[in-house]
Amino acid sequence: MLEVKNLKKSFGNRVILDNVNLTVKDGEILSIVGPSGAGKTTLLRCITGLETADSGQFLIDGQAFDPQGNEETDRVIGVVFQDYNLFPNLSVMENITLAPTMVLKKDKATAEKEAKELLDELGLDDKGSLYPYQLSGGQKQRVAIARALAMKPKILCYDEPTSALDPTMRKEVAKIILGLKKDGMTQLVVTHDFTFADTIADDILKVKALDKSLNQVQDVENQEN
Ligand SMILES: Nc1ncnc2c1ncn2[C@@H]1O[C@H](COP(=O)(O)OP(=O)(O)O)[C@@H](O)[C@H]1O
Ligand SMILES: [Mg+2]
Repeated sequence: MLEVKNLKKSFGNRVILDNVNLTVKDGEILSIVGPSGAGKTTLLRCITGLETADSGQFLIDGQAFDPQGNEETDRVIGVVFQDYNLFPNLSVMENITLAPTMVLKKDKATAEKEAKELLDELGLDDKGSLYPYQLSGGQKQRVAIARALAMKPKILCYDEPTSALDPTMRKEVAKIILGLKKDGMTQLVVTHDFTFADTIADDILKVKALDKSLNQVQDVENQEN
């Protein structure tokens, strides 16, 4: 279970997140929805330690947790980024085995065996030797999911998992997320897509844009978020 309490985050003097509270229960899916610029990605970046919160508490299974403790975060929280962030110079297999070998110190053969199992589960069994540029958007996303799962996280987070996908692929990713839920995975899904959130989530948290004028500017600049 992940709990976030009284999270506050500003950029300069602009308050982006004010007193955000959330709980992701074990084996459940919490979806965070809200308009572009509301601070959804910032919230996810605070939880995953990529951004420093101004104040607030993070708890995993009731224990205080420091998202900025890099190695600890890598083991506990997996992230599937909006643009997937695959390493372009590494093969699919290397993308998936890098962190397990470097951070978890698994030997290469074990890491590759586990990666192979994940690739099989995600319908990517023949893609291990390919490079990211040789994959479709949906395949890249599944590699990013496999890479996150290879670290055996307690919680898997996604930032806008449907934003780059057509409707058929959206159903596919919903299937993957619900399949992982069946396996017991705890998941946090950030999305601006209310329909998608409704399809997958046990619980929905709505975040509002605090800075309205800026939000309008951002909506024009950044329609897809
Ligand atoms: N590193 C940053 N520095 C300054 N402002 C930022 C930074 N990151 C995000 N913001 C601003 O914070 C607000 C929330 O952004 P974001 O979390 O990306 O929203 P969402 O994901 O809901 O669209 C936006 O106004 C954005 O411009
Ligand atoms: Mg975002």
